[in-house]
Amino acid sequence: MCGIIGINSNKSVSATIINSLKKLEYRGYDSAGIATLSNGFINEIKSEGRVENLEKNSSVQNMEGNIGIGHVRWATHGLPNSINAHPHSSQNVSVVHNGIIENSTLLKKFLVSKGHKFKSQTDTEVIVHLITENLKTENIVNSIKKTLKALHGSFALGIIFKDQPDLIVGARRGSPLAVGYGPNENYLGSDSYALKSMTNKITYLNDGEFCVIKKDHVEFFNEDGTKINKKVLELSSEDEKYDKGDYKHFMAKEIEEQPITLKNGIKEYIDSANNDINIYNIPWKKNEISSITLIGCGTAYHSCLMAKYWFEELTSLDVNVDIASEFRYRKNRFKKDTLYVFVSQSGETADTYAALDLCKKNGMKTCSVVNVIESSIARDSEFVLPIHCGIEIGVASTKAFLGQILILYILALKLALVRGDLEKKDLSKKLKDLKELPKLVEKTLQTDNKIQNVSSTFNEAKGSMFLGRGFSYPIALEGALKLKELSYVHAEGYPAGEMKHGPLALIEEGMPVVVLAPRDTYYKKTISNMQEVIARGAKVLLITNKSSDEIISENIWETIEVESTNEDLLPFLLTIPLQKLAYYSALKKGLDIDKPRNLAKSVTVE
Ligand code: F6R
Repeated sequence: MCGIIGINSNKSVSATIINSLKKLEYRGYDSAGIATLSNGFINEIKSEGRVENLEKNSSVQNMEGNIGIGHVRWATHGLPNSINAHPHSSQNVSVVHNGIIENSTLLKKFLVSKGHKFKSQTDTEVIVHLITENLKTENIVNSIKKTLKALHGSFALGIIFKDQPDLIVGARRGSPLAVGYGPNENYLGSDSYALKSMTNKITYLNDGEFCVIKKDHVEFFNEDGTKINKKVLELSSEDEKYDKGDYKHFMAKEIEEQPITLKNGIKEYIDSANNDINIYNIPWKKNEISSITLIGCGTAYHSCLMAKYWFEELTSLDVNVDIASEFRYRKNRFKKDTLYVFVSQSGETADTYAALDLCKKNGMKTCSVVNVIESSIARDSEFVLPIHCGIEIGVASTKAFLGQILILYILALKLALVRGDLEKKDLSKKLKDLKELPKLVEKTLQTDNKIQNVSSTFNEAKGSMFLGRGFSYPIALEGALKLKELSYVHAEGYPAGEMKHGPLALIEEGMPVVVLAPRDTYYKKTISNMQEVIARGAKVLLITNKSSDEIISENIWETIEVESTNEDLLPFLLTIPLQKLAYYSALKKGLDIDKPRNLAKSVTVE
C-alpha cells in the first residue's frame, strides 16, 4: 500500500504535500514524510504515526522548496518508525516508494560492496543507492532505466534529485501511479483522489512506464527508455467532499449510509418502467458463458462467496469463487466460456489486479464490480459495474460490502433473465422486494441498544465464533472479520454444519457464539447446530428475522431480530447487527475505529 505524492511548482510545496498526504492516509498510516529541494539541498522530515504528527513538526511548517515528494507508509520491510519512514535519501537523490523490492537483500550486498551506507531496514533504500550508483556513469533517464531493470517486485516511485531543481521522476510496475497537470506546475500521485484538489487532468501510468515531470510539461517513457505519448484524461472536476458530520467515526456514518447505498444502486440498475435491469451492454453473448468465477480479497471475497449462493440459486451457470492471492499463482484451467468477475472497493488491490491481469493475458472475459471508477481494476477490465456508494473512508468496509452484494445480486438476476433461467414475472416479484430493501435496512439499523449491551462480552472473551448456513454463511465470515479487525479479538466464522468436524472442541462455558438463523430453508438445521453449541456452554447471540412463529430453542443468551423479506435478501439485513457489534466492541475498548492497527484501506502490495 503506501501513498505517494510529488509536486513540481514555482511556489512553495510543503503545505500542499501535507494536505495531499492527509488524503492518501487511507493507504497507510504507520509513518509519514516529506522531502523538498531548496538551494541545491534535499531537506527531509519524517515522523512515526499519522500525518498530523508530521504536520505538527515546526520544521515542516517552515520547510522551503518548490519541488518535493511525500509519502504515507504501510510498513512491509522494517518497523513502522521514523527511520524507516519515507522519503529515503542519499546526498543526491530522494525516493518515495509503494510496493516491495523482492531482490533487495542481494542488491544491498552489491551496493554495500561499492561503499554505500544504509540507514534503514527498508527495501526502498536500495533504490536510492542504486540510482546514486548509476548516476555516476549515466544521465537521468538512463540511470532510471538501468535501476528499474535491476529491481524485482512491485513499485510506484517518486524521485527528486539534488542537482535537478525542475524534475521529478515517477515510475510504475505493479503499484498504481498517476500524473496530474496544473497551471505552471505538475504532479505525481498514487491516485487521482490525492490530486483532485489540484487538478482533474490526469494521465495514468501503465506497468513498466516511467515519466519525467517538469513544471511546464511531462515526458513519458516505456521500459526500454523510448519516449511515448499518453492521453490526458479529464475527470469530473468535483472534488467529492466527505466528512464525518455529526458522527464520531466514518465507520458509524458509513453503516448508517447503507440505505442510501442501496437506493443509489437500485436507481442506477433497476429499470422499473420496463421491469428489467439496466445492464444492456454486456460485451459478450449469453451463450458464450457457461460458468462464472468471482475473485476478490477480504470483505470483497466474502461478497463473491455471497454471490455464489445467488448465482447458483438463480442461474444455470457453474459458479466458482476464489481468493485473488491464491488464484494468481495456481495452475488455472482457463476456459473461454467462463466470465471472470473481480470485486474490489478500491479497485487497486494488488492481488485482485494481478488476477485480472492474468485473466486478460489468457484472453478471458473480464468484468469488475468496483467503487472507485477511475481505479486500475475498473480501467483494465472489459466491463465495469460501479457500486455507487461514494467514498468509503473507514478501513473496515461496510457500505461497500452491501453495495457489492447488491450489484452482484442484480447481475445474477440479469444473467438469469437473459439465459432464460428466470421468468419475467418472477423477476418482477424479486425487483419489487428489492425496492423495499433500503427501508428494511433503515429499520434494522435502529436495533442498537441490545448490540451495545452484548458487545462487551465479545471483547472480554478469549475468542468467539460466528455460525451460519447457506446464504448466512458468507455473512458469518464477514461478521467475524469485522470483529477481529476492529476489536483485535479472535473471531472465527464457520459453516454451522462444520462445527462437529473439529471446531466444536473450542466451545467452552461462556464462549460467545453468534448464530445467524433467519427463517429460511436452513433454519431448522441451523437451530440444531445452535443447540449443539448451547449444550456445550456457549453463550449464543441468535440473529434471526422477525416472525410470528416462536423460536424453536431454549437457553439462548440474547436474540436480535432483523426485518423480514424474501430469502435472497435476508443476508443484507443480517449484516447490519454484525457491523454494529464490531463497531461497539471497538468503541468500548477505545480503539482507533477508522484506522485499525496494522491495516490500510487500499492494499497495493501482494
Ligand atoms: C475488511 C476490508 C478488506 C478489504 C480487502 C479488499 O473490512 O475492508 O478485507 O475488503 O482488503 O479491498 P478492496 O475491496 O479494495 O479490493
